[in-house]
Amino acid sequence: MPGDKSISHRALILGALAAGRTTIAGLLEGEDVLNTASVLRALGADIVRDPAGVWHVHGFGVGGFSEPTDILDHGNSGTGVRLMLGAVATTPITATFTGDASLRKRPMRRVLDPIERFGAQTVTRDGGLLPITIKGAKNPIPITYRLPVPSAQVKSAVLLAGLNAPGDTTVIEAEATRDHTERMLTHFGAVVRRQKIEGGLTAITLTGQPELRASHVQVPADPSSAAFPMVGALIVPGSEVRIEAVMLNPTRTGLITVLKRMGADITIENERSESGESVGDLVIKAGPLKGIDIEPEIAPSMIDEYPILAIAAAFAEGRTKMTGLGELRVKESDRLAAIADGLIACGIKIALGSDWLSVEGLGAGGMPGGARVATHMDHRIAMAFLIAGLAAKAPVTVDDTSFVATSFPDFIPLMQSLGAIFTRPNQ
Ligand code: S3P
Repeated sequence: MPGDKSISHRALILGALAAGRTTIAGLLEGEDVLNTASVLRALGADIVRDPAGVWHVHGFGVGGFSEPTDILDHGNSGTGVRLMLGAVATTPITATFTGDASLRKRPMRRVLDPIERFGAQTVTRDGGLLPITIKGAKNPIPITYRLPVPSAQVKSAVLLAGLNAPGDTTVIEAEATRDHTERMLTHFGAVVRRQKIEGGLTAITLTGQPELRASHVQVPADPSSAAFPMVGALIVPGSEVRIEAVMLNPTRTGLITVLKRMGADITIENERSESGESVGDLVIKAGPLKGIDIEPEIAPSMIDEYPILAIAAAFAEGRTKMTGLGELRVKESDRLAAIADGLIACGIKIALGSDWLSVEGLGAGGMPGGARVATHMDHRIAMAFLIAGLAAKAPVTVDDTSFVATSFPDFIPLMQSLGAIFTRPNQ
């Protein structure tokens, strides 16, 4: 399985902000992460891949970015651009960021609001959209910021901005979002404290201007990519699939919890720790699934997994209702609409609200399929509906597979090695 996307972005960024040579093994070589590497190079980092596939980052230390001479293009990656806007916000350089047509539609105000409080100045398109020019703060002021949306990207942007501000920067969150930035900052030698405060909130505090130590990062397999063969194994009768060294950070394992509640046969073996993250091998066996109600509180721990969960729900017996899905409207596409439209096209009955979806499952082998699904420049919509095609009565076609390369470049050959058959409609 490919390396975790979240960890890969962060390893490159913290490697660039550490003095000395950081090595990264298992880096996800998907377009999103490669774009982050290019942006960091344009900001002065020396980043190379050795013949054994290990990445070497020669960092410049906290506050060491140099001014780029051209526009910085993050392609399809919200994580890349939001984390980098935070990272440069407290260094006195001017930089202009952009992305592809999908990224240029996505909300950036959520990171600009806090980073302006550090003293950065920004100019955006109407509505806070990319392209965005940022003039980093010369004399940054550390901030305390309560997240208005449960977003690890916003939390991470604030913490990365806090790195070059004197004193303590604190982020307050109501719901636990993925904590890779905090863990990796600690791995690189920064001081990060996590504390429960009143009202069930959590405060995460970073001590600014640390000397980050160059480190080695072993990137575990991405649970969000593993989700596709995992659900494929559950819905194709007779399957048994083992997926090795998958990250099992509890802020990412919501899908496994939910699928088990739906009756899935998933076991975890060899649980261990790698570079501050827990990992394990997953063994998944096909079997019947039943529809359930999924509570909103679990959404942040499986936010990228709803497209493939909706496919599992379509092959379950009975109704699955998913709530608390407002954030899906602002991912690589309006994922809630894309999932709903795709399921309807495949012959599944659904009901849709502004932040919820219910799916009337037709049981094993019940999905008619035979549809052409619009993917809207969204890798996870493409992969989810291709997996649906593995078990539907008639093949499922997606209109574009090019974006799969953003997160899972070997998805097609890997699924072929498990027996999946793909054809191009015009061949
Ligand atoms: C990510 C956080 C999530 C997720 C994205 C990766 C990260 O976004 O959807 O794919 O690496 O921090 P939000 O934190 O905005 O929900």
